[in-house]
Amino acid sequence: MILPVYIYGQPVLRKEAEDITPDYPNLKQLIENMFDTMDRADGCGLAAPQIGLPIRVVVIDLDIMSDDYPEYKGYRKAFINPHIIETNEETDTMDEGCLSLPGIHEPVKRPTKIRVQYLDADFQEHDEWVEGFEARCMQHEFDHLEGKMFIDHLSALRKQMIKGKLNNMLKGSVRCSYKVKTVK
Ligand code: NI
Repeated sequence: MILPVYIYGQPVLRKEAEDITPDYPNLKQLIENMFDTMDRADGCGLAAPQIGLPIRVVVIDLDIMSDDYPEYKGYRKAFINPHIIETNEETDTMDEGCLSLPGIHEPVKRPTKIRVQYLDADFQEHDEWVEGFEARCMQHEFDHLEGKMFIDHLSALRKQMIKGKLNNMLKGSVRCSYKVKTVK
């Protein structure tokens, strides 16, 4: 089932999300709905707060990049209770966008490698270092679980430059091809 994507201004996007337990109601269905919603919006990741739930669940699809990055062929994963434990010193900068911030794409500087702990969709524990686009995407999505969005990483000048677009979102004026839920 495709759900509306919560847009900038929705308080849930600024909340710290909570860990869940394996008995969380209808979790399999929730994860399926998150994949459907992400696919419909052509996203490569979606965090539960973006569909209005302040819980630590994320889906990521890197398979859509596998024409350029064959190592990501078949990469469609759900992450439960993910936490970033360590990052390396080295950073790089890449343009990011977000389904909750339609029409905004800005360069964001992030560490190139991260150590993450999470449970997969079968509640198996993982503890691993990841790098490259996978690390970038995870950091973006896991930020959502801390109530953060990628625009928080921008300089004051760049924030100033997107202010008009953000204000339009707060007024409920959003142009995109998927179902959304604005604050007004
Ligand atoms: Ni996002």
